[in-house]
Amino acid sequence: MKRRLENILVTGGAGFVGSNFIHYVFKNTSFCGKIINVDKLTYAGNLENLQEIDNDYGGKRYFFERVDICDFATLKKVFEKYEIDTVVNFAAESHVDRSIFGPKDFVQTNIMGTFTLLEVSRENWKGREDVLFHHISTDEVYGSIEDGDYFYEDTAYKPNSPYSASKASSDHLVRAYYKTYNLPATISNCSNNYGPYQFPEKLIPLMILNVLEEKALPVYGDGKNVRDWLYVEDHCRAIWEILNKGDVGSTYNVGGENEWENIKLVNFLCEKIAKIKEKDEDYFKKLINFVKDRPGHDRRYAINCDKIKSKLGWSRRLSFEEGLDITIKWYLNHQDWVDRVRSGEYRKWMEKNYKAR
Ligand code: NAD
Ligand code: TYD
Repeated sequence: MKRRLENILVTGGAGFVGSNFIHYVFKNTSFCGKIINVDKLTYAGNLENLQEIDNDYGGKRYFFERVDICDFATLKKVFEKYEIDTVVNFAAESHVDRSIFGPKDFVQTNIMGTFTLLEVSRENWKGREDVLFHHISTDEVYGSIEDGDYFYEDTAYKPNSPYSASKASSDHLVRAYYKTYNLPATISNCSNNYGPYQFPEKLIPLMILNVLEEKALPVYGDGKNVRDWLYVEDHCRAIWEILNKGDVGSTYNVGGENEWENIKLVNFLCEKIAKIKEKDEDYFKKLINFVKDRPGHDRRYAINCDKIKSKLGWSRRLSFEEGLDITIKWYLNHQDWVDRVRSGEYRKWMEKNYKAR
């Protein structure tokens, strides 16, 4: 059965990965259908990320609806209005530190929101086979892994933070809807993304901006936690491949095969920015400040992504150096964007929770 893939409901499209995905599909693929972006616009959602798309395609092939994915009735109307045949579920509370300060929103959006979307899809699609529910998830559901070991698609879930536990729960629901109701579904579990439009609470944009502003660089614990980094556009291309060619009921791991200890990565960013600013790298490295560790901090994530490489022919295109160069330049050239996203609600939250910095 051929997939219809004409009217795509993207949830969380005003966030970091979701907005990059919408850019990717309109700019880099031959897709000629419609994208309907459904977003609640939390502190992390910013329609400015999609201004260019709205200018070029708004009202014709791109539509925005401000909706909470927990709101069944409104989602149902959106499904009917746009004859949705594909869901790509990015909408989530996404920051581990926030999930430690306040897990409730994570349970609500990530679990109840995904459940609500699944229910709306099941009710609306009524056994159709030309549709797809693709759920975006994270490698963090697998927990922390020892040196030399890797996460495979069948690695047991062992989430350690409220964020990863809520994502794990949503993955289980998606799988259950496929198994129980035959809802055509796929899941991808990706490693840490970086690139333009990432909210500057996550490691890479936070460190870039703090270096540029000559502020302290807060490294948690001993700085030896390891993450695997993937340029966001490579992630978006993986999602596009899955929508087009992925096997229903399958999970795909997506990773950069690019592991870095946090402290080495922060030092590397200092060196790169020192070159751009024609300053001595030690001047920036002196800003590094080891701070109290994150509770339950996973030591290492490492993805094996052989399945998507062999089955769908995907592999990462950008090297880490290339991706970082683009990212650093993007933040250097988008000071207005940075100022706007850091004002208002976000600033109040930082002032309340991160006084120590
Ligand atoms: P983000 O925080 O930048 O964006 C999340 C978006 O979801 C925002 O636009 C927000 O307004 C929206 N949203 C939040 N709650 C909502 C709700 N109840 N209803 C509708 N919209 C809501 O997150 P991101 O980094 O772009 O992550 C997107 C997805 O990718 C998440 O599911 C995340 O778990 C997953 N993921 C992210 C990474 C990464 O490194 N960023 C890696 C792997 C997987
Ligand atoms: P983060 O970007 O929050 O992603 P995740 O926790 O989902 O992997 O953090 C990446 C790594 O960087 C993680 O090991 C925590 C660490 N970190 C710091 O050391 N300092 C910081 O200020 C932040 C935000 C993260």
